[in-house]
Order: sequence, then structure tokens, then C-alpha cells
Amino acid sequence: MEKSEEEAKLIFSGVQPTGNLHLGNYLGAIKNWVELQKKTKCIFCIVDLHAITTQDNQNRILKNTREVAAAYIASGIDPKKNIIFVQSNVTGHSELSWILSCHTPIGWLNRMTQFKDKAGKNKERAALGLYSYPVLMAADILLYKSTHVPVGEDQKQHLELSRDIAQAFNRYYDVNFFPVPEPIITGNATRVMSLKDGSKKMSKSDPSDQSRVNLSDDSEEIKKKIQKAKTDSEPFPSSLENLDDRPEIKNLINIFSSLKNNSPEETIAQYLSKDFKYFKEELSNLIIERVSKISSEMQKLLRDYTYLDSILIQGSERANEIAETNIKELKKIIGFFGS
Ligand code: TYM
Repeated sequence: MEKSEEEAKLIFSGVQPTGNLHLGNYLGAIKNWVELQKKTKCIFCIVDLHAITTQDNQNRILKNTREVAAAYIASGIDPKKNIIFVQSNVTGHSELSWILSCHTPIGWLNRMTQFKDKAGKNKERAALGLYSYPVLMAADILLYKSTHVPVGEDQKQHLELSRDIAQAFNRYYDVNFFPVPEPIITGNATRVMSLKDGSKKMSKSDPSDQSRVNLSDDSEEIKKKIQKAKTDSEPFPSSLENLDDRPEIKNLINIFSSLKNNSPEETIAQYLSKDFKYFKEELSNLIIERVSKISSEMQKLLRDYTYLDSILIQGSERANEIAETNIKELKKIIGFFGS
């Protein structure tokens, strides 16, 4: 029998266990996953192999891995329905990454802006892993023959590369083995910006904790951060027009709309005659309501690892089953001895 369109879809996505999970990770990615899991088969990964591409994360990796797993479940990802697992527990990721790296021209990697940003001026000393990071990301997605990848806007370029790599492999071996994965970049908060500077994205690695709302922040911290969030001296906007020139305001409106599940136009209409102080109070209440639920559930899950660890162990077994089947087929296509 033909598979229905929904049955034929497979969603894959992941978060790096690098600490400081924030509102951008939640609104740009995890919140959308909670909706997608209702209809579609999903695999959610904690990408620890990616997290070791920057040295400063290496000694906190285990703690951060459990924290991401807890955040997934606390946000509403159902671990029975979906696969939740840790990347390094399935060897297929590294194996496929090597194979795909043999089909990835260096010119494609040279275009990746994330490497340029992260390596900074000192490119010569940057690790090879940081450079080839996007190939490992393509391997994550393609290992499961995933068809859709829900991410924030910042991952768009990596997704385009994954599509190119899938097509390059298929072309080279004249097969239709890898689906060409579609990015899903949706909602009002695909790029949540720093609370201090509307030209920079909210990021785990920003040295200023005031720049982001962490999923572990308590109500007082959230209130203070939103009160102090940068705005300007102009009144609350009356339309979306010209908001591109007011990136901090646009960001707060987008965060509000994303949490409320309404459009920025509706948010603007609602607060039109109000001042920023009032809007910020309402916004912080909205964030506190959502984040405190997630963070208290996370604390509960992290108090005793037994349940969390059992989810991850089962998850890696389920992921490994799919990965092994696909790697076997792949080796046959390449013509490796013993395949
Ligand atoms: P990471 O760990 O940086 O971020 C996890 C997810 O959060 C999104 N995100 C944001 N969305 C909106 N506004 C922001 N300020 C913001 N900051 C982060 C990211 O877009 C991402 O969806 N390379 C990936 C992890 C990865 C992956 C994969 C993702 C590895 N393999 C395969 C999908 C599929 C990353 O660094 O995410």
C-alpha cells in the first residue's frame, strides 16, 4: 500500500549540548517540534560530537547533554512517540560524515559563514572539526533519510549544504538513495535577537547573560532582563512598517507573538496606545509563565537521572537500528568489501 504523505515524512533536528539553552532555541526550534511531533515521525538528537568542535565545552558535556534531554521532554516532546538520543551513541554519524566529506568540495565549505564567525581571525589555528562541522550535520540528517529539518534561521546555510551534498552523492552513484531534505523555518521567532543588541542573534556563547533569557532563569531574573532589554525613545509602533529600523522593538514583538501564537500585527494592535513599560511587563509575564513551567519540569528530571538516561539509551537503540540498515545499504552502493 502507498504511504500517505505524512507517513512518508521523517523529521530530524538537534541541539548542541553547549549549556545556556535559551529562549531562541526554544522559540526557533523546540517549540515547533512539539507541534510537528503530533503528525509526523520525528528523531531529536543531542549533538554532542558537534559540541566538541569548540574547546570550552568539553568538560561540561555530560551535564549539558542531560540538560538538553531534560529540556526536550520538559518542553513537551514525547519520548515514547519520538526518538530522543545522543549523537555519539550512534557510530553511523561519524562513519557517514567521512563518506560525505569525500563528496563535498572544499569550495562549498569555504562559503560557510558560521566557520568564519567562529574561527574569527585565527583561521590557521581553528580545528578541522569546526571546518567540517556542516558535513557532520548533513550526515546527521541523511543517516536517517530524513525528509524535513525544523531549525532556526541561522541554520539555513547548513541546510542548503546538506541538500547539495545529498544530491552530489545521488548523482555520483546514479542512485536515488538520499531524499533532499527540506528545511522548516517557521513562526514569528525564527531569529530571536539579543536583548542588548538587536543586530546580534540571541546566543548561548554571548558573554553577557543579560543578552538572553535562559530556560533555567527564575521569574526575578526574567523580569529584570526584560525590563532592561534595549528599546528606544520612540512610542510603541503603530504598524510593522519601519520596524526593520527598530530591530530591538521588532524582536520583542516577535517574541511576544511567538509565545501568544498570534501575528505581530495583532500584537501591535493590542498594545498600540500603551507604553513600553506596560508592554514589557506583559511580555515578561508571558515568558515567565512558559519558561518557569519548562524549567521546573527540567529540574525535576535532572534531580534523578535514571528516567532521563533510560530514555536516551532506548533512543540510541532505536536510532541505531535505522542507522545500521541505511549504512549497510550505502556500503553496498559504494561497493565496499563485505557489503
Ligand atoms: P544550536 O545548538 O546552535 O541551536 C539549536 C536550535 O536552535 C536554533 N536557534 C535559534 N533560533 C532562533 N533564534 C535564535 N537566536 C537561535 N539560536 C539558535 C537553531 O537554529 C537550532 O535549530 N548545527 C545545529 C545543531 C545540529 C542540527 C543537526 C540541527 C547539528 N546537526 C541536524 C538540525 C539537524 C546547531 O548548532 O544548533
